Amino acid sequence: MTIVGIDQLDVTGKTVLVRSDLNVPLKDVDGVQTITDDGRIVASVPTIKALISKGAKVVVLAHLGRPKGAPEAKYSLAPAAARLSELLGQPVTLAPTTSGAQAAEVVSALTDGQVAMLENVRFDARETSKVASEREELANEWAQLGDVFVSDGFGVVHRAQASVTELAKALPHAAGLLVESEIKVFRKVLGDPERPYAVVLGGSKVSDKLGVIENLLNSVDRLIVGGGMAYTFLAALGHSVGKSLLEKDQIETVKGLIERAKSTGVDLVLPVDFVVADDFAPDANTQIVAADSIPDDWEGLDIGPKTRELFISKLADAKTVVWNGPLGVFEMAAFANGTRAIAEALTKLDAFTVIGGGDSAAAVRLLGIDEAGFSHISTGGGASLEFLEGKTLPGIAVLEDN
Ligand code: 3PG
Repeated sequence: MTIVGIDQLDVTGKTVLVRSDLNVPLKDVDGVQTITDDGRIVASVPTIKALISKGAKVVVLAHLGRPKGAPEAKYSLAPAAARLSELLGQPVTLAPTTSGAQAAEVVSALTDGQVAMLENVRFDARETSKVASEREELANEWAQLGDVFVSDGFGVVHRAQASVTELAKALPHAAGLLVESEIKVFRKVLGDPERPYAVVLGGSKVSDKLGVIENLLNSVDRLIVGGGMAYTFLAALGHSVGKSLLEKDQIETVKGLIERAKSTGVDLVLPVDFVVADDFAPDANTQIVAADSIPDDWEGLDIGPKTRELFISKLADAKTVVWNGPLGVFEMAAFANGTRAIAEALTKLDAFTVIGGGDSAAAVRLLGIDEAGFSHISTGGGASLEFLEGKTLPGIAVLEDN
């Protein structure tokens, strides 16, 4: 079934509820919650602008962090509302509550082309409730505030939550421009990737990526593994990994994945050397060691120079590359070289390059790599992984139902 886009909606003079994903990283700077990467807010702008330009009254719904179903100042959307307002060049009024009379008052004060935001949808326990009737109740309260629902929070389409799924059922709905473009990219990668097709996986835990790896082994030509998850692969090959991250309970599963890669003819590429440190600290002592020679008291925090070369050579002729998860502790300069080298190499390829995952996208921006060098930078962390896993995403399935 097809998904309706916002160009097919008549929104002039209507109140449009837009679910965006404004879940951005924040840092406390002298008591002020400060956004460290505004990528998701930037990505939410085109849909909101398009709706404003058609004369809609726009009400943004979003979450921030994982509050426990009640208001908590540190999870207020105030910093996101302020940044959105700067990007739009017009005020964004933040309602003091998620629903109820105060939220309704802010919405009813809107005139055509104006924008409001409700407080963090997760301040209401019904948003994430496991009980469908509770989610429906909250969605129905929101539905009273508007005429149409636009789903534009790609980062949450893997969640069956009131503002994602139940609200879509309660109102006429459409996909926003961001969700449309993300779906297009991931469907292309899943269904019809130009070959050679390589996937680079990093990040700390292999257990988070088992489903993706299982599914990718049916489709990729090369699977390149770095980051914290690589140590469990090395342990599965019988190497000692010192104090590096290791998921002992996954070793047997990973052995099975290594066997499957062999039998399906997937080129599974693992690091051959690492930058190891004697402490998890920016100023730790470091050395470069071969992958089978990590000393007992040291931990691997980045891929080494030979691995950078190996990975880059395995990407050189690729026509489709998906990259999810940093290859080292890029937040510390001493361990950012692997992530930087691979990201920069991707920008030089003549290939369709997709950056998936919150951390890899954040790494690209924090390391100052030109975002225009990639074909697509996804706003989805878990959502992009579940898409690659081949799962049905509830927030997308619900949009197909018109
Ligand atoms: C994300 O950060 O991946 C999305 O905003 C979803 O957040 P969640 O994992 O807390 O549901």
